[in-house]
Amino acid sequence: MKIAFAKPELPAQGTLVAVVSEQRKLGQLATQIEKLGKGALSRALGASRFKGNADEMLTILAPAGLEAERLVLTGLGAPEKLDNLAAQAVGGRLVAALNGVGEKEVAIQVEAPAGATLSEAALAAQVAYGARLRAYRFDKYKTKEKPEQKPSLKKFTVLTSDPAAAKKLFDPLDKIADAVDFARDLVSEPGNVIYPESLAEQARSLKSLGVEVEVLGESAMKKLGMGALLGVGQGSERESQLVVMRWNGAKDGKKKPVALIGKGVTFDTGGISLKPGAGMEDMKWDMGGSAAVIGAMRALAARKAKANVVGVVGLVENMPDGKAQRPGDIVTSMSGQTIEVLNTDAEGRLVLCDAMWYTQEHYKPSVMIDLATLTGAILIALGTHQAGMFVNDDALSDQLSAAGKATGELLWRMPLAPAYDRLIDSPAADMKNISGSRNAGSVTAAQFLQRFVQKGVAWAHLDIAGMAWADKDAPTCPKGATAFGVRLLDQFIAANHED
Ligand code: BES
Ligand code: MN
Ligand code: ZN
Repeated sequence: MKIAFAKPELPAQGTLVAVVSEQRKLGQLATQIEKLGKGALSRALGASRFKGNADEMLTILAPAGLEAERLVLTGLGAPEKLDNLAAQAVGGRLVAALNGVGEKEVAIQVEAPAGATLSEAALAAQVAYGARLRAYRFDKYKTKEKPEQKPSLKKFTVLTSDPAAAKKLFDPLDKIADAVDFARDLVSEPGNVIYPESLAEQARSLKSLGVEVEVLGESAMKKLGMGALLGVGQGSERESQLVVMRWNGAKDGKKKPVALIGKGVTFDTGGISLKPGAGMEDMKWDMGGSAAVIGAMRALAARKAKANVVGVVGLVENMPDGKAQRPGDIVTSMSGQTIEVLNTDAEGRLVLCDAMWYTQEHYKPSVMIDLATLTGAILIALGTHQAGMFVNDDALSDQLSAAGKATGELLWRMPLAPAYDRLIDSPAADMKNISGSRNAGSVTAAQFLQRFVQKGVAWAHLDIAGMAWADKDAPTCPKGATAFGVRLLDQFIAANHED
């Protein structure tokens, strides 16, 4: 789907979209159409329930007084509630609705209603951004789709009085959407296509944007003493990888970086503590944290963010095998701390602890944020609407929450406390990788990670197990891979760490 910005005009074909605010307050275009159609629009409105609320749409075929085949009235709701996310939803819903009816082109005239805080140009850019985000589709393996099963929309034009101003605001959003699409592709790909080496290869593609990419294989990690990460990948035919991505966009090249760490378990069978078969296919998206980090690095580099950021992802495949690690094995992490692996399915923390330690030793970050599809327990606690946030610094918590609200990638703060930490003490080693109780499973996982946070580092752990994959469509995200975290991290850096 192509996105364009143009001056208002009445199109000769396709769909024309006019905005209406709450209580049926017609915008300028709708008012003009009412006149052109000699009152037909009022009659159509009178026959409908459409009120101009934020989630409403009314379609009128063969509209009187227009050459366009279809007129869509789209609700903007209350002007004071029309923020970036609401504007994105307008664009996203339109794309879904028009793809569903076989429309090929659409032009939406955006008008900022009286009382709106968004400028018309911002509104135009955000509507286009939402349209782009919703237009994502992972269909590369569908070889037999009939044309009518494919999305029909080819052109999405935003009509606005200053197309150049809107385009300028849209450019960075377009790049973020590229990164979101990229991350969604990585998460959607199955485990036979995306495995540690092939995912590392995808990360290497960021070099073309100026990101420095370094990949460590198993022998390098062995030398570094990463026994925790390596233990997880030990049962796989695929070689484990650690990918380090550096974007140095700050004026001061020596400024301490922000570190982003991602769990990249390209497939999680559970290992010898094998998962049940039903639903195991979902574990292809157990690399969602790494996709978020790779995607965020891409977004930052593409829009030339003025910040120093290092992204590190630990990539492994967790398989049962004659060579796989056993429940009860004791491994030594890069930090020197020993871990009794009581459950080989609690593998994400084993991967992250070495990736985190390596990052702190080599890059001395001021802030470190890890993202991981870490626990099923976070789904029990929060469902699929907010990710769990565990953080050792209140200011960082506030910054991340604000970035979450701004992007719609919501975070809910969860506790960390010594009483939970004690639950992972082991009689045989420095710690065990599970508490042995189902209680507070996401918290004990976070406590495990906190044992690998060095003094003075502001750290947040985001458990995105409920967010990486969606079973239902949302206004700006079709069901499937969400790329949760890409927009959040980009916004967090933009708001707090750019020159
Ligand atoms: N990748 C899973 C967590 C997960 C579960 C993500 C469901 C997405 C949806 C993780 O590696 C795991 O298996 N965790 C175990 C931990 C347990 C053994 C302490 C879990 O949550 O059951
Ligand atoms: Mn697991
Ligand atoms: Zn896992």
